[in-house]
Amino acid sequence: MSEHEFYMRLALDNAKAMKGQTDPNPLVGAVIVNDHRIVGVGAHLKAGGPHAEIHALRMAGELAKGGTIYVTLEPCSHHGRTGPCAEALVAAGIKKVIIATLDPNPIVAGNGVSILEKANIEVIVGVCEEESRKMNEVFNKFIVKKQPFMTLKAATTLDGKISSYTWDSKWITSEEARLDVHHLRNENTGILVGVHTVIKDDPELTTRIPNGRNPLRIILDSTLRIPLKSKVLTDQKADTWIFTSENFNHEVKRELENLGVKVFVTKGKNRVDLQDTLNILGEQNVASVLIEGGGEVNASFLNEQLVDKLVLYVAPKLIGGKQSPSFFAGEGIEKMANAIELEELEINKIGKDFRYTGYPVYS
Ligand SMILES: NC(=O)c1ccc[n+]([C@@H]2O[C@H](COP(=O)([O-])OP(=O)(O)OC[C@H]3O[C@@H](n4cnc5c(N)ncnc54)[C@H](OP(=O)(O)O)[C@@H]3O)[C@@H](O)[C@H]2O)c1
Repeated sequence: MSEHEFYMRLALDNAKAMKGQTDPNPLVGAVIVNDHRIVGVGAHLKAGGPHAEIHALRMAGELAKGGTIYVTLEPCSHHGRTGPCAEALVAAGIKKVIIATLDPNPIVAGNGVSILEKANIEVIVGVCEEESRKMNEVFNKFIVKKQPFMTLKAATTLDGKISSYTWDSKWITSEEARLDVHHLRNENTGILVGVHTVIKDDPELTTRIPNGRNPLRIILDSTLRIPLKSKVLTDQKADTWIFTSENFNHEVKRELENLGVKVFVTKGKNRVDLQDTLNILGEQNVASVLIEGGGEVNASFLNEQLVDKLVLYVAPKLIGGKQSPSFFAGEGIEKMANAIELEELEINKIGKDFRYTGYPVYS
């Protein structure tokens, strides 16, 4: 491993430690090195707080002068809630800036590098670029499209089923796999299910790990048939938002609003419009959403090509049956040639189960 890679990996590790607490901002880490010694380390801790470079500069103090900074994302150039980091690096006398990825944010995109180069600072871009890009896949989509990054998670048997023909679904996967899902919930701003899952399972949709953060609960319900006693409406453990269609029940909407639930009416005539749902979530600063099915909702998102990432927990069990639902329900895709393929597939063993993570490629 080269010296540049070594220090950039340290910056990446610092950034990754903040997973789940910076959104809608990116994960960013920085390391300042002077005369082969680390003199400052920093990470962006939360939106509105100082950027990683500023934390590292504060730690380095006078030792930043003449030093090299390794930063996982291009230093910013704009006056947002904090001052431009590129100017702070110039003022501190940094001599060299090594960057993993340029900032896709249209208001930065290369401007940070220009400020540095104009001040005669040597800039190198692209060290550990792929790792940094993947680390910020949520931010990279959100900042450009103003829509949340959508991860679809499902737990299935080896034959792809998410419940038996009697709708029994507890439990398909092992405790270890279910714990892993709670880490996914912790990392996402919102968690989304269809109203049928609420009716059948009455889930809490909370994060049950120490220091876990409960995501916003998002329910798709075209007519507002959700039972008013559902835990997601009454337990006060997290906010719940319901997305509905133009065909909603006005009286129930008032009752839901009295319970403190936000109801968004999408453009869909009789079914919740998913594109509109994503646009509204983006406007509300929701950067990432975990779709937790069931099969109908999963199918709609996959068919409309709105899933960015798939995480499938597969248990070594078989239940069979024409009536038992699969995680990708609906009509299905007509021809093999049009099947959705997953790229960058990773397979991990979790307890007795397997976790498949991949990115759908739509034909
Ligand atoms: N193993 C797992 O990972 C997992 C995860 C979740 C659920 N489950 C199981 O899945 C079962 C429920 O699955 P399900 O497929 O019947 O229900 P679902 O996906 O939870 O809900 C489907 C309902 O969502 C509503 N909806 C609103 N807009 C929609 C849209 N654009 N596209 C699709 N649906 C929309 C529809 O009802 P309206 O038209 O009335 O709005 C639809 O009937 C439960 O038994 C649960 O235990 C398993």
